[in-house]
Amino acid sequence: MSDTLDQLQDALLGDVNGAGDLDTLETVRVAALGKKGRITAEMKNLGGLSPDERKERGQALNKIKEAVASAINLRKEALEDAALNERLQAESIDVSLPVRPEEMGRLHPISQTWDEIVAIFGEMGFTVAEGPDIEDDFHNFTALNIPPEHPARQEHDTFYLQGEDGQIDYEKVLRTHTSTVQIHTMQNQEPPIRIIAPGRTYRSDSDMTHTPMFSQVEALVIDKKTHFGHLKGCLQDFLSAYFEVDNLPLRFRSSYFPFTEPSAEVDIQCCWRDGELVVGEGDDWMEILGSGMVHPNVLRACGLDPDEYQGFAFGMGIERIAMLKYGIPDLRTFFDADLRWLRHYGFLPMEAASLIRGLSV
Ligand code: DAH
Repeated sequence: MSDTLDQLQDALLGDVNGAGDLDTLETVRVAALGKKGRITAEMKNLGGLSPDERKERGQALNKIKEAVASAINLRKEALEDAALNERLQAESIDVSLPVRPEEMGRLHPISQTWDEIVAIFGEMGFTVAEGPDIEDDFHNFTALNIPPEHPARQEHDTFYLQGEDGQIDYEKVLRTHTSTVQIHTMQNQEPPIRIIAPGRTYRSDSDMTHTPMFSQVEALVIDKKTHFGHLKGCLQDFLSAYFEVDNLPLRFRSSYFPFTEPSAEVDIQCCWRDGELVVGEGDDWMEILGSGMVHPNVLRACGLDPDEYQGFAFGMGIERIAMLKYGIPDLRTFFDADLRWLRHYGFLPMEAASLIRGLSV
């Protein structure tokens, strides 16, 4: 091979191996082997040579062409590998790094309190029952021993829905209490019954201690020999566990509810210290719930024989007991959807309420 051809090969191979990326390599390939490339130009010149010279130089040029082509392939593979490695490096995730301290969402105090209630009653063997938010008159009133002319109907500030004719449909009410779930449960389930029913309730009322929508939890126990002592024991256990105070002192005051007889309102002992409510100490009492032995008329309305079955029920406001436990002063703030409020009063989502771990840690 002549010096010039040697030089040409060295120059081309030098260009190939010096190409730092795939784009440059392609430019080098076109400059050597492309239609207007240097080897192609040399090939074109062969026509002007004698047959012997043409053969010799032609073979030599073909060798250079092959050498350059295979060098390009090798260089291409190497550059592709390098590009892939670089990408893998850049995109790799170090799974051993600590979690970023990102802003985490918070559980709303209603959800937290709801979970705490379910955890405590679940431990006592209660199951959770549900009923519809839109009720009929029977489940919200009549079956609960509140007949049409009963004054308790007025006290409930009921929301009625509109019928198709645009008039108020008195058969469609937003439930004013979760006591409705007592009725559904007794209609659908044979005693023994032991349920709680947390849920939303609605009354047309709005001020610092009332919102048109709020939450209640109802409890119902029906069996053959369930008596008032069971009611007391159940409330003692529940309220002590919920407020996280051993043997929380309770006061039962006789009261009236249409659906229970006898009925009692229950107060917890408390006092105010430095503007804050302290539960389980002092000489004050705070009303917390309504309760009683299920009225025979309610049992009858659900098809149960009051001579065979009896039991107790109670109901309380979920926001109310959340306010007392967590020192939240205004009921309306529960529904403001204010993130600053939620960050302050909310709970970490992974800290599920359980009696074993502690309810509200
Ligand atoms: N339903 C009552 C209310 O909304 C609360 C209540 C009181 C429920 C006494 C009961 C009960 O089950 O026995 O004010």
